[in-house]
Amino acid sequence: MVIIIFDIHSHILPAVDDGAKDINEALQLLEMMKEDGITDVIATPHFYPDSDNLDEFKMRTEEAYKTLCSAAEGKNLPRIYFGCEVLYFRYLGTSEAVTDFRLDGSNYLLLELTDDCITDSFFEDIANLKNKSGIIPIIAHIERYYKAPSFRKLLKFVKSENIPTQVNASSLFSPYYKRITEKLIKKGYVNFLATDSHSIDIRPPQMKNALKHITEKLGEEYANGLIRNSRLLLEEMTRKGDLYEKQNA
Ligand SMILES: [Fe+2]
Repeated sequence: MVIIIFDIHSHILPAVDDGAKDINEALQLLEMMKEDGITDVIATPHFYPDSDNLDEFKMRTEEAYKTLCSAAEGKNLPRIYFGCEVLYFRYLGTSEAVTDFRLDGSNYLLLELTDDCITDSFFEDIANLKNKSGIIPIIAHIERYYKAPSFRKLLKFVKSENIPTQVNASSLFSPYYKRITEKLIKKGYVNFLATDSHSIDIRPPQMKNALKHITEKLGEEYANGLIRNSRLLLEEMTRKGDLYEKQNA
């Protein structure tokens, strides 16, 4: 039986952000992901609301996505999907652009925060996003905000509002984030494990090691739960989207 390992956070698109610098590195990263047991990956280039123009961003990233898909064709690499990682901005919850940020055919959006943005306005925006736009944010690498003044408030909020969160596989091997990442997983605050791979040097895929570490340190049920959640997200995406069919036609 093939185990589906879906990486929900990666910067594999060539030359669009601080991720893969060109098509060769993007293909190398996909090769590494395959070796790492990843069967499916979504490209999530950074969208920075202060400096990116949405139309230009969409054009640029869609072009890079098509280039990567055709370069990867026939190479037996992980299947690639299309999304982005949005940096939080005020009024995100009621922004018309919000549907453009969804992860390929799903009702989810990958949301990056800053330590300072976790305020009452943020909580209001996230509630609006969920309740008015019907879009559920996944908080990207939540472990990274553990020094934010409102981190406890954030944890309380994600729990009470059922907001999914993601941690980076690499954080389990980082002297800064290891403890908090393990603690968050153990306490049930984490829904997804992802690579957030940027290049063959910066945060290369470590999914296999991370799942092994979680199994040994916390228990197999935690690792299985994280795998299951991303598979369910993939199922939702492929049910609603059409890219999967196109790629596999
Ligand atoms: Fe990222």
